[in-house]
Amino acid sequence: MVVQQIVARPTRTAMFLVLTVAPGSEGAVREFITNVSGLTRTVSFRVPDDQLICVTGIGAHLWDRMFDLPRPRGLHPFQPIVGANHTAVSTPGDLLFHLRADSLDLCFELAHLITDALKDHVTVVDEVHGFKFFDERDLLGFVDGTENPEADDAVAAVTIGNDDEAYAGGSYVIVQRYLHDLDAWNALSTEEQERAIGRRKVNDLEIPDADKAADAHIALASVDDADGNQQQIVRDNMPFGRIGADEFGTYFIGYAKDPAITERMLHRMFVGEPPGTSDRILDFSTPRTGSLYFVPSAAFLDEDHP
Ligand code: HEM
Repeated sequence: MVVQQIVARPTRTAMFLVLTVAPGSEGAVREFITNVSGLTRTVSFRVPDDQLICVTGIGAHLWDRMFDLPRPRGLHPFQPIVGANHTAVSTPGDLLFHLRADSLDLCFELAHLITDALKDHVTVVDEVHGFKFFDERDLLGFVDGTENPEADDAVAAVTIGNDDEAYAGGSYVIVQRYLHDLDAWNALSTEEQERAIGRRKVNDLEIPDADKAADAHIALASVDDADGNQQQIVRDNMPFGRIGADEFGTYFIGYAKDPAITERMLHRMFVGEPPGTSDRILDFSTPRTGSLYFVPSAAFLDEDHP
């Protein structure tokens, strides 16, 4: 089974495109998505070393409109998660294109080819251009991505297996566009920031469990299954921003073989564990979007589904 290339080394840039599809355009979009791998090759071959990758995700409503096939088991519209102080909002999205490369020109060119081909059929409802910020840091100043699984473990964490045989080789992805209140964050001391994340700022060392705050981000975002095994997702967050608009953000993207794992992390972050102990980074970071997609295998995407 040929899978889409979700697991990759970190790239210097990324674009996140969220589209909605006009009523009546389902057939055109269904036909178009079989071309995305070819378009990606067309652009990437011009600069092979820059590792252009495009992952395509399909939202639940569009799936039902576009295919006469059962829904993949974990596919549903993203449900808002409402805690006492913070809410993970749900916003529209029929298609997600996650484009990555070492230079933005490749992402931009491919994004343009995709949206141009679809221009009579879609609306771009969210578009974020992300960039790497020094040594893999987010705009809060912390190294982001350290505890991601690697290599085979990463592939196993994101790939649907035989428990949903018709869609084996696929995956799920949840995205959220967060805005940071950097003035308030930077008013904290480095020790207070480290307490919020659960890691040291300069060298990224994890704070030992005995000293870790209950509302630290990494305390709430780590989840175990009933047997005590850690349940993992693959993240590829990217900073973005516009200085003049006082906009500083993190685009969160998390892939998993079962979206319930990511949803459980979100529940712990927003509602708290125990309820009330919500994630300290949410006092400085607000999600403005939230959506969930099925990521079909490359083989499924390339085939015609009449
Ligand atoms: C860890 C930043 C949102 C899941 C981390 C780390 C940082 C970070 C700095 C520590 C280094 C690392 O292991 O990557 C952020 C920022 C976010 C954000 C700035 C948005 C404002 C989320 C969301 C989820 C999530 C929404 C899940 C739904 C995780 C996980 C870890 C992690 C699973 C690793 C925990 C561990 O096992 O140590 N994040 N994150 N993050 N984050 Fe986030």
